[in-house]
Amino acid sequence: MKYRKVITLKDGRECILRNGVEADGEAALKTFILTHEQTDYLLTYPDENKMTALEEARYLKEKTESGDEIEILAEIDGTVVGLAGIDKMGGQEKIRHRALFGISIDRDYWGLGIGRAMTRACIECAKTAGYAQLELDVTAENKTAVALYESEGFTEYGRNPRGFRSRETGWQELVLMRKELYE
Ligand SMILES: CC(C)(COP(=O)(O)OP(=O)(O)OC[C@H]1O[C@@H](n2cnc3c(N)ncnc32)[C@H](O)[C@@H]1OP(=O)(O)O)[C@@H](O)C(=O)NCCC(=O)NCCS
Repeated sequence: MKYRKVITLKDGRECILRNGVEADGEAALKTFILTHEQTDYLLTYPDENKMTALEEARYLKEKTESGDEIEILAEIDGTVVGLAGIDKMGGQEKIRHRALFGISIDRDYWGLGIGRAMTRACIECAKTAGYAQLELDVTAENKTAVALYESEGFTEYGRNPRGFRSRETGWQELVLMRKELYE
């Protein structure tokens, strides 16, 4: 899928939200690894990442050509500072209506409005792709993210007390959230 929007951040800077393309492979991978080093709230550890820049480039190309998946980059002055995307839950008929949402932003750029804008961009793309429901899992301690999702219309439908097992803190409870996109 394709997407492009220019937003003005809370500090007055301009930020481009756009679908990542093949040429963004190296930059997107770098940001992915960086954001996964900066927080204990994401699914994978940086040392678990097996993607190369070339594979990331192919992944972004596939997403651009896809009719129902996208990876959106947030770019400030030519630097990729955030990633967000939607992935289909599966191709089977019974779950074709469900998509998964994920997001990670470089900590140096938190609190500027990028997270909200990227969440809205992904909701818009999920609607365009025809999904009926957008879903996510978030660690219960990630209060900023939970508040952001609630304010964008996601509601909690359950919890998994042993959802993650962190190297640093042990069990992390996951809040399961969903947003209906149409009746
Ligand atoms: C969660 C995350 C995506 C939020 O992105 P962000 O760009 O900082 O979000 P925004 O600036 O758009 O702020 C969204 C809301 O979060 C809250 N918020 C942001 N920064 C905050 C801070 N420092 N203190 C308290 N609340 C804060 C505000 O309620 C804000 O709402 P507002 O628009 O009414 O001010 C970002 O912190 C992140 O990437 N975290 C690490 C990865 C992660 O946790 N991903 C989610 C996994 S489910």
